[in-house]
Amino acid sequence: MTMAKQDYDGPILEIDRLSISFFTRLREIPAVMDFSVTVQPGEAVGLVGESGCGKSTVALGVMQDLGKNGRIVGGSIKFKGRDLQEMSAEELRDIRGSEIAMIYQEPMASLNPAMKIGKQLMEVPMIHAGMNEKDAYARALQVVTDVKLPDPKRILNAFPHQLSGGQQQRIVIAMALMSEPSLLILDEPTTALDVTVEAAVVELVKDLGKKYGTSMLFISHNLGLVLETCDRICVMYSGEAVERGSIEQVFDDMQHPYTQALFRSIPLPGADKNASPLVAIPGNFPCPMNARRAATLARVVTISRPGAVMRTSTSTWPLQTKMAATNPAA
Ligand SMILES: Nc1ncnc2c1ncn2[C@@H]1O[C@H](COP(=O)(O)OP(=O)(O)O)[C@@H](O)[C@H]1O
Ligand SMILES: [Mg+2]
Repeated sequence: MTMAKQDYDGPILEIDRLSISFFTRLREIPAVMDFSVTVQPGEAVGLVGESGCGKSTVALGVMQDLGKNGRIVGGSIKFKGRDLQEMSAEELRDIRGSEIAMIYQEPMASLNPAMKIGKQLMEVPMIHAGMNEKDAYARALQVVTDVKLPDPKRILNAFPHQLSGGQQQRIVIAMALMSEPSLLILDEPTTALDVTVEAAVVELVKDLGKKYGTSMLFISHNLGLVLETCDRICVMYSGEAVERGSIEQVFDDMQHPYTQALFRSIPLPGADKNASPLVAIPGNFPCPMNARRAATLARVVTISRPGAVMRTSTSTWPLQTKMAATNPAA
């Protein structure tokens, strides 16, 4: 271990004016521009925005895993006060295995199909923390119990293909928790699951974040999910952060038409969809290139037309009352 997990009490993650581009033979594609966000200890921050706006690129930037053609072209990413770009390859490997864990959208991509679940889980602390087999087994059993899988001993003895998609995703979450990371990045962790399984997994992630005191960066194109899981949100649009703050702050003071459109496009349980139809966000979002400013503006004009109403989905959401006042139809 290169870093003591216990003796740091500043922000876990500080992304400051980050810009990331992908380089093709012909040109530079700016995917993230001047993007800042901070995650405090124990906090869950949601990163929301539509497909292609740069969410995964931010996550991969934090993992320092941008592939051959991706590069950080500006700004900095600090983990527990230390600049990730100034770390050696070995330090980064250590941190990725034990301090920062990432959960991807497709659970099977993170599991080895030829290895039993128990062995895969046990490898994490055995390799990264030099834990012995007996303790690693005990820990695997505990974590599989924590992610609320039935019959944990049988699960540890199973191969990934013997589990359902929802169970596999719980195993991936269990695996991420094996090393008790300080930061868990979840990149659209429930997109591959059906809605009921998704709700259970979101609930689980929320509980586990509290139990383990893990800070989370929860990435989703689904504002409803982010509202249910996170303390603060950051809305991304075409590579840039357009809103940042507590859910209440963002709702009270939406700066960007995209955010207004985002709030209008979430379904409200029990709402009459004929009386107050959902508003789709029209058009394709602008490609983040030279023409992006003009394209963004054109689209902003379309989505911010007056008379549209705001609605939300979360029944537990404290702003419900406020919004009902804003929108009598909901
Ligand atoms: N390896 C890559 N090479 C070139 N362009 C990429 C690469 N990865 C992502 N991009 C581009 O960067 C932008 C942001 O992508 P991404 O971060 O995956 O968005 P999101 O996760 O929000 O859907 C998109 O325009 C995408 O096409
Ligand atoms: Mg993505």
